[in-house]
Amino acid sequence: MVLVAPSLLSANPAFFGREIKRLEKAHADLLHFDVMDGHFVPNITYGSHVLKGLKKDTSLPFDVHLMVNQPEKFVPWFAEAGADIITFHFEATFQPDKLLKEIKKYHIKAGISLKPKTDVNVLSTLHEIPDMVLVMGVEPGFGGQSFLEDTPKRIKLTKNIFAAHRVLIEVDGGIDAKTAPLCIQAGADILAAGTAVFRDGTYAKNIRRLRGEKQ
Ligand code: DX5
Ligand code: ZN
Repeated sequence: MVLVAPSLLSANPAFFGREIKRLEKAHADLLHFDVMDGHFVPNITYGSHVLKGLKKDTSLPFDVHLMVNQPEKFVPWFAEAGADIITFHFEATFQPDKLLKEIKKYHIKAGISLKPKTDVNVLSTLHEIPDMVLVMGVEPGFGGQSFLEDTPKRIKLTKNIFAAHRVLIEVDGGIDAKTAPLCIQAGADILAAGTAVFRDGTYAKNIRRLRGEKQ
């Protein structure tokens, strides 16, 4: 069954603690944290201290999506703050293999992501097999953008590259009730979604709808 990771980018930061409790009750599977530095992407969000503060009040796994330059500088901070998965961007580092290894040293999952315009085949140049690949459904930086149509194709290509390994596929950006089934069919294991979960306050219903469950 596909997992749903609500992105807190679409939640009101003044009420993160309360919103996480509501997401637990709505049976979210993971919490997706979009970390942006204003350089790799134009937007700025939050640092590891925010995650550290939230970690003690929830048992939901923390799925950390680093949209930052030089991610190697930040991995130790987020690992120590309680990340269960850390994903960095291939484009943001010169040493992706080294960084995948480094993340695994913390006994957490190591993820890698590509911007939509980066050729998926660069993934076959990796020597270290990631635990997860995060396939972007939009240009990283902002929530609420439209889903890029070639995303399911990119999911399939990614699955083919790692066909001989157990690599999770997360898809992130523009996921809603229409686009989720296309991604699930293409092989996505985890759906990260902001707008589609938070849009009207009915979190449980929205999460069920993304999973394709009956209402
Ligand atoms: C985009 C982020 C996404 C974003 C998804 O840079 O990585 O996680 O929050 O938001 P929606 O679901 O609104 O497209
Ligand atoms: Zn994200």
